[in-house]
Amino acid sequence: MNIPKKIKSICCIGAGYVGGPTMAIIAQKCPHIKVTVVDLNAEKIERWNSDNLDDLPVYEPGLKEVVAEARGRNLFFSTEVEKELEYAEMIFMSVNTPTKTYGKGKGMAADLKYIESSARTIAKVAKTDKIVVEKSTIPIKTAQAVNKILSNTNNGVKFQVLSNPEFLAEGTAIKDLNNPDRVLIGGEQTEDGLRAIEALSDIYREWIPNDRILQTNIWSSELSKLVANAFLAQRISSINAISALCDKTGADVDEVAKAIGMDSRIGPKFLKASVGFGGSCFQKDILNLVYIAKSYGLDEVADYWQNVIKINDYQKNRFADSIITSLNNTLSGKKIAFLGWAFKKDTNDTRESAAIYVADILMEDKADIFVFDPKVTKERMFEDIDYLQTRSPEENRKYLNYGDNPYDAMKGAFAIAVITEWDEFKDYDWQKIYDNMNKPAYIFDGRNILDHKKLKGIGFEVNAIGK
Ligand code: NAD
Ligand code: UGA
Repeated sequence: MNIPKKIKSICCIGAGYVGGPTMAIIAQKCPHIKVTVVDLNAEKIERWNSDNLDDLPVYEPGLKEVVAEARGRNLFFSTEVEKELEYAEMIFMSVNTPTKTYGKGKGMAADLKYIESSARTIAKVAKTDKIVVEKSTIPIKTAQAVNKILSNTNNGVKFQVLSNPEFLAEGTAIKDLNNPDRVLIGGEQTEDGLRAIEALSDIYREWIPNDRILQTNIWSSELSKLVANAFLAQRISSINAISALCDKTGADVDEVAKAIGMDSRIGPKFLKASVGFGGSCFQKDILNLVYIAKSYGLDEVADYWQNVIKINDYQKNRFADSIITSLNNTLSGKKIAFLGWAFKKDTNDTRESAAIYVADILMEDKADIFVFDPKVTKERMFEDIDYLQTRSPEENRKYLNYGDNPYDAMKGAFAIAVITEWDEFKDYDWQKIYDNMNKPAYIFDGRNILDHKKLKGIGFEVNAIGK
């Protein structure tokens, strides 16, 4: 197979939260490589090409500066998927791999239809040999399926499939891409496979120290991505489970987290109790892991990981329930303000945000919810709640409201629920907010980010997670 010594052209399929920022960084660090990101979604591509850098489809601190530097030089965004794939030497598949919503594996397995259609398109249009990189998170053994599709082209073109999962977290994507803990590259342990691994390693070596580039066999790489997310989510569910015990006993979950995190074997990160983890990946990837374990007959393993999700659902319900109980089990006609709708700070992404589920529960009790989020749009918020199909869109618009500024969103409220840990929430004029609320004025801090002592001094009833 023809594998160039130095890759000069890359095409990435999927201009989403991973494809966009990842390719922007590769283009910035490797000016000698032409990087084209393609997507079927024309509106998304138009926004990636927008002159207004505040209109990029992904909000990430530092992203617009990188795009400004590389776009038009060696970074391009296009809807011409087939044309761009023809001659690219390396192709990244960064398409979405959501949980299946139909058929076999419904609600558990990863839906690989976008991976498969990408592979078919590559097979159809490829005119030169290519390295195909799985950047999306996929079940173990996906490379086998991709290989099968690619090997049926009849045009003599050869392929090497690599697994190169992405570990960036949203909100810190640029920082993570600039300085990753490690880059994982798995490939076939054959001469061509090893040369392909080297070609991709060379790209990362432009800015990442060699000892952080980990080369493995392809199955280890595919599986490690699911396992990394499962372990991270497990830590959150572990501390959230303990937060419930803290609520009953007078222990303080932040103090417990600090005490255990100082043990170097445990470590301090990912021990922040919260209203529950959200985001497009943790739940989907654990469900996928559970499904894979089940499909190999490993029921105990599947049950073990399923409980991470069970505790996460429990935590969201527990948080909503504490609001309902504190307000005398009657929310009808009461205004409840939500600070935050995004699944974490510094992103406009709302996929699987705890906010959606907490709002849904409170709306069943006929609460009037007013949401303020610095980066999430009103349209996005309504799409999220309509997607659940608990109520009609008209009813959703009766109970869910969007505040253009935080002070209006909280004015006249009976309670405030802090859902996202945006830094700016800490700097609000809490005395002014208290003065304009119904009394008693409640704060439910789902992130433990506010100064609870100060708030109590003002007169708030503070209800925090695990405090
Ligand atoms: P996304 O939904 O933001 O982006 C995926 C894009 O792929 C969409 O814009 C979609 O239009 C496009 N697409 C789908 N099929 C296509 C096709 N056949 N041709 C062209 N474009 C196509 O998803 P994302 O958040 O970027 O995630 C992508 C993958 O990366 C997933 O597997 C996810 O699990 C994984 N991942 C995500 C993150 C994250 O922080 N979001 C981090 C690490 C890994
Ligand atoms: C996560 C992983 O951290 C990334 O390494 C991975 O690449 C990515 O998933 C993915 O595969 O998509 P992300 O979901 O973007 O990244 O963000 P995280 O920082 O992991 O946060 C996930 C959720 O957990 C958020 O709702 C966050 O608020 C919550 N969280 C996080 C806690 O509740 N407590 C914590 O201590 C940490």
